[in-house]
Amino acid sequence: MNSPEQRDARVLELYEQLLEIEQRLIPTGLHVFGEAGDTTQRADMLRMVASFDRPEFGARALPELVASELPGESQERIDEIVRTTIAQFVSNGTESAVRYLNDIAHIAPEQSQPIFTMLGGITEQLTTNSEVESLLRALRGEFIEPGPGADIVQNPSILPTGRNTHAINPYSVPSTVAFARGETVANLLLDRYRNEHGSYPEAMALVLWGLDNIKTQGEGVAQALWLLGVRPVRDALNRSTGVEPISLEELGRPRIDVVMTVSGIFRDLFSPTVQLLDRAVRLVARLDEPFEQNFVRKHAIEQIERERCDLDEASIRVFSNAPGNYGTNVNFMVMDSQWQESETLGDLFVTRKCFAYGHDSQGRAIEGREARVAMDRALSRVEATYQNIDTFEIGLTDVDHYFEYLGGISKAVEKRAQLKPSIYLSDSLSRDTKIRSLEETVRLETRAKTLNPKWYEGMLKHGFRGVAEIENHVSNTFGWSATADAVDDWIYAEVANTFVLDEPMLERLRNLNPHSAHALVRRLLEANGRGFWDADQSALEKLREISRNLEDQLEGAA
Ligand code: BEZ
Ligand code: MG
Repeated sequence: MNSPEQRDARVLELYEQLLEIEQRLIPTGLHVFGEAGDTTQRADMLRMVASFDRPEFGARALPELVASELPGESQERIDEIVRTTIAQFVSNGTESAVRYLNDIAHIAPEQSQPIFTMLGGITEQLTTNSEVESLLRALRGEFIEPGPGADIVQNPSILPTGRNTHAINPYSVPSTVAFARGETVANLLLDRYRNEHGSYPEAMALVLWGLDNIKTQGEGVAQALWLLGVRPVRDALNRSTGVEPISLEELGRPRIDVVMTVSGIFRDLFSPTVQLLDRAVRLVARLDEPFEQNFVRKHAIEQIERERCDLDEASIRVFSNAPGNYGTNVNFMVMDSQWQESETLGDLFVTRKCFAYGHDSQGRAIEGREARVAMDRALSRVEATYQNIDTFEIGLTDVDHYFEYLGGISKAVEKRAQLKPSIYLSDSLSRDTKIRSLEETVRLETRAKTLNPKWYEGMLKHGFRGVAEIENHVSNTFGWSATADAVDDWIYAEVANTFVLDEPMLERLRNLNPHSAHALVRRLLEANGRGFWDADQSALEKLREISRNLEDQLEGAA
């Protein structure tokens, strides 16, 4: 029997989980090209933007401002005040919102005014939309004004939309802010691993994407450098072209061996950064330090002794596609159900991604040299895999790219290291960065999006395309079963209950888009057939019958 204290602790834990799901930022509905969103969407967006400190506008995070004036007030009450404030602002303008905050929380107008000045500017840019005009100008070969690439919460100056997204100067990566944030995330990641395993991981595999590192000015890159225990050094032109070791005393822990798989987009956009990462590994491999404090050196020396190779070969850690190639194809293999043994998915990942980039000790460039043996070796030591998530717009089940990369590499590790790696994701969306396991993230995404009426009703407003999006989410979730066995049975059961076994809902899906409805039902049956979902018999029979009916409908027989 649990003690009252244990019960209270459990209730509190559940309460915090519920709050986490409730407060998770999710996009509701799709963007329609050329159209400004409606007022509800705009209010949601403004509330998200206002939840963060904006020193560039002299604006404090609204929830914190309210909380600081109402100490002891519950989180729900603070949220309610924030919502009402934003609603006031959207319907009646700045003055009314400022007055409301003053009345309810005694917040002086000077304190709240900068927030609404910022939100006013954003509103103006959100309500004018010249995407179609810009597209037409582009098609005529005319000039399109450039604008930064990021998401709106991270950087509201991406507005107005319809501009020519520009990247960043790769030599500026990682920025000072990104490097500082990288330390926090790397420490949290190692803490989490140590809590679960009692020791540091000797080697980790990281996935690095181009767009993410543009948006965060290199947070993923910074995390890799921190794990290795090096800091970037700028040259006379202020370019990050060098690295120096952080001393072991300062680091206070061993240097982790890091295997980096970078996307084709990253390789193309961040060529100097690829060099920086490769240089960092080679520097660490050469440091004269004890093996138990430097796992890169330990692994490199062991490999040299065992395989009689040289240090150049034993310190290859940066991999990508062959020059001119992109992607892992693991997503296509999963979506088309073209695999028998799951290890095929990991092998495909390595086949696509085993091309080394960097420089050898003679200063000769390695530009996409096939290095399958080196990648197999590097992955054979990996104990944990990891990817940084940096946007609220796109998560694990929105696109097939997360499972093709993080799932693909984890599957590759499973065979080569003969263990199931711990798989982690970070979440730098909220102000306090969190590390979650893959399983936790899949559950959170499922509850916050796929099974959340606010999310799927938002999708269904888009008719045919909306049903396709729901089906995509289910298939992407299935991708996490295929590559990492990370999906609980209840997830499939609830998807079936919500979208298929509920007759009015099935009717809606069938009318809007019978193709996607059929694909969704087949995907659920495949999950069961492949052993990912232990479904109950009556549900299965019902699903099979519905699948047959949909097939008949599509073939025009019903
Ligand atoms: C990238 O930004 O590198 C990326 C984007 C989508 C899929 C894969 C990689
Ligand atoms: Mg299962």
